[in-house]
Amino acid sequence: MMNVSRRHFVAAGAAALGAAFLMEDGRAAVAAGRFSQYDKQARGILAQMSLAEKIGQMTQPDKNYLKNPDDVANYSLGSVLSGGDSDPKSGNDLISWTDMYDGYQERALHSRLHIPLVYGVDAVHGHNNVIGAVIFPHNIGLGCARNPELVEKAARITSEEVRATGINWAFAPCVAVPQDIRWGRTYEGFSQDPDIVKTLGVAAVKGLQRASLDDPLAVLACSKHYIADGGTKWGSGKTGLDQGDAEVDETTLRRIFLPGYTATIAAGVGSIMPSYSTWNGVRCSASKKLLTDLLKNELGFEGFLISDYGALNQLPGTYKQQIQTSINAGMDMVMVPDKYVEFIDLLRELATEGSVPVSRIDDAVLRILRVKIAMGLMDRKRSPLADRSLHRTFGSPEHRAVARDCVRQSLVLLKNEGNLLPLSKSAGRIHVSGKTADNMGNQCGGWTIFWQGKTGEPTIGTTILTAIRSAIGSGMKVTFSEDGSNAMGAKIGIAVIGEKPYAEMFGDRSELRLDNEDVGVIARMKSQGLRVVVVLVSGRPLVIDEILPHADAVVAAWLPGSEGDGVADVLFGANKPTGKLSFSWPKGASTSFHIGDSGYRTLFNPGYGLAYS
Ligand code: BGC
Repeated sequence: MMNVSRRHFVAAGAAALGAAFLMEDGRAAVAAGRFSQYDKQARGILAQMSLAEKIGQMTQPDKNYLKNPDDVANYSLGSVLSGGDSDPKSGNDLISWTDMYDGYQERALHSRLHIPLVYGVDAVHGHNNVIGAVIFPHNIGLGCARNPELVEKAARITSEEVRATGINWAFAPCVAVPQDIRWGRTYEGFSQDPDIVKTLGVAAVKGLQRASLDDPLAVLACSKHYIADGGTKWGSGKTGLDQGDAEVDETTLRRIFLPGYTATIAAGVGSIMPSYSTWNGVRCSASKKLLTDLLKNELGFEGFLISDYGALNQLPGTYKQQIQTSINAGMDMVMVPDKYVEFIDLLRELATEGSVPVSRIDDAVLRILRVKIAMGLMDRKRSPLADRSLHRTFGSPEHRAVARDCVRQSLVLLKNEGNLLPLSKSAGRIHVSGKTADNMGNQCGGWTIFWQGKTGEPTIGTTILTAIRSAIGSGMKVTFSEDGSNAMGAKIGIAVIGEKPYAEMFGDRSELRLDNEDVGVIARMKSQGLRVVVVLVSGRPLVIDEILPHADAVVAAWLPGSEGDGVADVLFGANKPTGKLSFSWPKGASTSFHIGDSGYRTLFNPGYGLAYS
């Protein structure tokens, strides 16, 4: 299911509530003062604002739904987003993105109080909506690299490329802790292990927000999706797991799903996105206990909350009631994303009637303004428009070199019979095959140029086939057939197989078998007498029992992104494999894939990963 338009997914759903929170170790907020130090200045601005202007700051439409670009100033909007598939009208290129951002930002500067926008995008593995940006491995690969310095470096490059287009807010990092790899968002999570998620989540925040949010190269980060998005039960979501229900007690919630938030709050993350999913039947976006009591009061989060895309529509009641519930629960800004005029009118009605206290609205706006001040946006001496000198390094070889390093470090060697790897550079002829060998889109996965990603050539980079071709020595030959035919005569085959791109609910799968065509490729090469290296490109571990006996070597490459050279570096031994699984690997006979279920059997455990001997 590719290229499904975002417009169809502004959905509907259910909710209720539970008990009081106690911090396990009584720890107070670590980042105290991070944003509240700007209270005085923010209050000064707040005092000048009308109710309508306050509500405008709390409103975030998707730019695709803006009826008129001047609405940014007319309604004093606080933010605009480009959701997946929300490219500039003039085309998907660096200049068009920059012009588009500047266009909206200039309009915001024309609002009565000249408050600049925070403009949001899903820069989740590089500035991945923009053709030509460097695309990093998805988080699952970085989780196997287990290298916080590298994650921070990658996030710094992402922030620099995002700022090249002027954009100043990334809906990242995803600090989900996926407990069931059938989930279509497994690859957005670093690991099933909260400690790895916590460490790498902090590294990502540090890289995106840099030492100070007012660094012109920093972008506002957003930890998501709060909370237990990766802990849902199979069957509780419409497509299986996504947006479903996490049936866990509070102790488990705090042990597994909270550390990513506690740690990124301490690292100064300025925004957090509540999850579409429910915790014991209560939508996170409706839970005062989760949003206000736990996050703001207990953990001392001083930034602001941004709802997920159309998430309020899933709450019970009319649109007006949905808004009332969520804002009163503690939501500060709403990713509407379509009916923003209706949202603004209804919230004004609610405030006038007293159903949403003005004090709650003031708190929300204060939080938004404090973050804007921290970002340097209210500094009149600085322009919030794009710094186009950054175009020079956008998608540059230097940036790609870091992504290539991320790829090398993320690969996990699962099998290496007879030390087939590393391949000799004088191995005669190598036959490369498989649907993903020469497929940039498959290699990048979902959230790449399109919301759902796209098989084929959505952006610029080096495919694994091209990388293999440039890695071999002279006197060696590489041949290619997608299906593994015409391999006879080669000694070694490399089959690059796995999953095609998907995102969110479209990636939920009840079983995790390999595609028949992938199994066929390996069988075909084996029947022609080759020793076969399997490079598995996928957003999660897949059931490989069927091919394991036939494959001489298996490398899990995850969704490596635009720099296929990193794969060739490891295959030919320029770099050794160092990646260790950040998820357990299922055994075919499993009757469940949910960690902790009695039917869950594993082939390899977290931490597994062979080295070259
Ligand atoms: C996703 C979020 C994303 C948002 C904006 C939602 O569907 O759940 O992760 O940030 O869309 O595109």
